[in-house]
Amino acid sequence: MWRLRYNGRLRQLTHDGESLAGRPETLIAVYPGSFDPFTNGHLDLIERSRRLFDKLIVAVVRDGPKQPLFSVAERLEMLREVLRDYPNIEIEAFEGLLVEYAARRGARVILRGIRAVSDYEYELQMALMNRRLRPEIETVFLLASESYSFISSRLVKEVASLGGDVSQLVPPVVERYLRQKFASVWTTKGG
Ligand code: PNS
Repeated sequence: MWRLRYNGRLRQLTHDGESLAGRPETLIAVYPGSFDPFTNGHLDLIERSRRLFDKLIVAVVRDGPKQPLFSVAERLEMLREVLRDYPNIEIEAFEGLLVEYAARRGARVILRGIRAVSDYEYELQMALMNRRLRPEIETVFLLASESYSFISSRLVKEVASLGGDVSQLVPPVVERYLRQKFASVWTTKGG
C-alpha cells in the first residue's frame, strides 16, 4: 500500500512500510553496551539520538565484562528507573551476536558513542566486523558532549569505590546503587 507520511521531520512516500529511499517507516536503533554502570555520558548520547530515530532499544550485553560490578538484572533495573519517562525507548538484555539481535528486533542502526580518538580504533574494528556480518545494518557514531567526554564507567567505579563524589558523573539512581555497593567506604567517608 502506498502512503504519504509526515513524521515531524520529513515527508515520505512509503510502499508497504518501506520508503522509496529504502528508509523503513519506523527507524529503530539499538544502543548496545555493558552499562556497568550507566553514566551521564550514556544519557547524553541517548538524548541526542532521540531526534534521529523513531525508537531506541538500549541493549545490555549478557556476556560482557568478566567481572562486572553490577549484575545484568541490576543494570536493567537502573536503566528502567533512569529512562522511565522517556517515550519510544525500550530496555532489554541480549546475548550472542549484536547484529543478529539487531536484525531480530528490526533495527537498521547500531548506535555508538565516541568520546575521544582513543575510542576510535576499537569502535572502527567493531563497526567493520558488524558490517561484514550484516551489511544492511549501519553503525552510527555520535559524539559525546565535551563536558562528558572524560567520563567512563571504569573511572566512575574506581572513584566510587574509593569514596569519591560521582554525583556529577552519573544519574542519581545510579549514584544510589553505587553507594549501596560501596556502603562500607561511603560510611567511613561520612558520604
Ligand atoms: O559498552 P561496551 O562494553 O563497549 O559494549 C561492547 C558491546 C556490547 C557493544 C560489544 O561487546 C558487543 O557487540 N558484544 C556482542 C557480541 C558481538 O556481537 N561481538 C562481535 C562485535 S564485532
